[in-house]
This record gives sequence, structure tokens and C-alpha cells, in this order.
Amino acid sequence: MKKILIIAITTFGMMLTASPAISAESISSLRGDHDLNAGANKAIKSKQTTQKDGFGRSYKQQPPMIPHKIDKDKITLKTNTCMKCHSKATYKKEKAPMVGKSHFMSRDGKELKKVSSRRYFCNQCHAPQNSAKPLVGNNFVGTKYVPGK
Ligand code: HEC
Ligand code: HEC
Repeated sequence: MKKILIIAITTFGMMLTASPAISAESISSLRGDHDLNAGANKAIKSKQTTQKDGFGRSYKQQPPMIPHKIDKDKITLKTNTCMKCHSKATYKKEKAPMVGKSHFMSRDGKELKKVSSRRYFCNQCHAPQNSAKPLVGNNFVGTKYVPGK
């Protein structure tokens, strides 16, 4: 027991003396040497973009983007307000599309009565859109897939 303690203390001591050798200047990242906090208060508060008939999909399996505001929506263990409009029971009345059929499948391919727990946290896959300029340009062109056509 005593031996282990001595080894532990000496190792810890060695770590302490070795650490000053790694100085901040020797690390260079893509961000360069900009202070993380500088400019942190200048966040761009661009607005969420909404679109009446949805954004369309770029490929068949794409989770469609959210075309409406979601600031009042809540997804917690107890409630999921998205389902007030997108569930089997409510979608017709709310004139909203029902959650995809795939959302009722267990991982073994069995059809479930309720939305699968794998699809419970909607914004894990469905994202709202923002008017912010892309940080990096790209020339991606989608397939303009339209469900059911
Ligand atoms: C008050 C009702 C309501 C609530 C709450 C709601 N939605 Fe919607 N949602 C709609 C309607 C209606 C549409 C149809 C498009 C439109 O007119 O905005 C829609 C469209 C969508 C679409 C686009 C589907 C497509 O094929 O393009 C997605 C994705 C979506 N909602 C996800 C969500 C998520 C995720 C939440 C919760 C964070 C949510 N919605 C909450 C009513 C609602
Ligand atoms: C693991 C990713 C994932 C999660 C989580 C998820 N979805 Fe989806 N969703 C998709 C994909 C992929 C599609 C397109 C394929 C399909 O219809 O299944 C889709 C399609 C949809 C559609 C369009 C259906 C149609 O027929 O046009 C709506 C509406 C939707 N999801 C709402 C929701 C809501 C509400 C939740 C939360 C309860 C949710 N999704 C959770 C991936 C996801």
C-alpha cells in the first residue's frame, strides 16, 4: 500500500513539473491565435427564415427542414409540442403533414402505435433555416426531390 502511494505521489509530481513545458504559444489552431472571448458579444442575430409550403428536399431521405417558427416549441421528457400538430390524431385538423411513416418503426422494423423513441427528439434531424450567409461557400445542387412524385 505504502509503495503504491509513493509511486502515485512521484508520478503526480512529475506531471506537475512537466506541464509548464506545454505553453499556449506552441499550439496553433485553424482559428489562429484569436482570443475566444474577443467578439463573443457580437453574435449575428439573423432571423429564422420561414417558407409557406416548406423548403423542398435535396434528396429522398433528407429530413425536411422546418419551414415555420419553433421558438415556442418544447421537447422534454414529458412533452413534445411538435406533436400537437404533427401526430396522427391532430395533423388533419392542423393542416400539417403527419410525421413520416418511418417515425413509427422500431429498429427491428415493427410498426409502433406511438412515434418511436428513436424519433422523439425532432430537432435532432429537422432543423430550422436561417438567413445567415454560409461561412464557407459551396456549389451543391439538390435533386429537387418531391415526395410522392
Ligand atoms: C401549430 C402547429 C405546428 C407545430 C406546433 C409544429 N408544426 Fe411543423 N408544420 C406545421 C404546418 C402547418 C406545416 C406545413 C408547412 C407550413 O405551412 O408551415 C409544418 C411543416 C413542418 C415540416 C416540413 C415538412 C415538409 O415535408 O416540408 C417539418 C419538418 C416540421 N413542420 C417539423 C416540426 C417540428 C420539429 C416541430 C416542433 C419543434 C413542429 N414542426 C411544430 C404545423 C406545426
Ligand atoms: C432520426 C431523424 C429524425 C427524427 C428524430 C425525426 N425525423 Fe421527421 N423525418 C426524418 C426523415 C429522414 C424524413 C423523410 C423520410 C420520411 O418521411 O420518413 C422525415 C419526415 C418528416 C416529416 C414529413 C413527412 C411527410 O410525409 O412529408 C415531418 C412532418 C416530420 N418528419 C416531423 C417530425 C417530428 C414532429 C419529429 C419529432 C417527433 C421528427 N420528425 C423526428 C427524420 C427524422
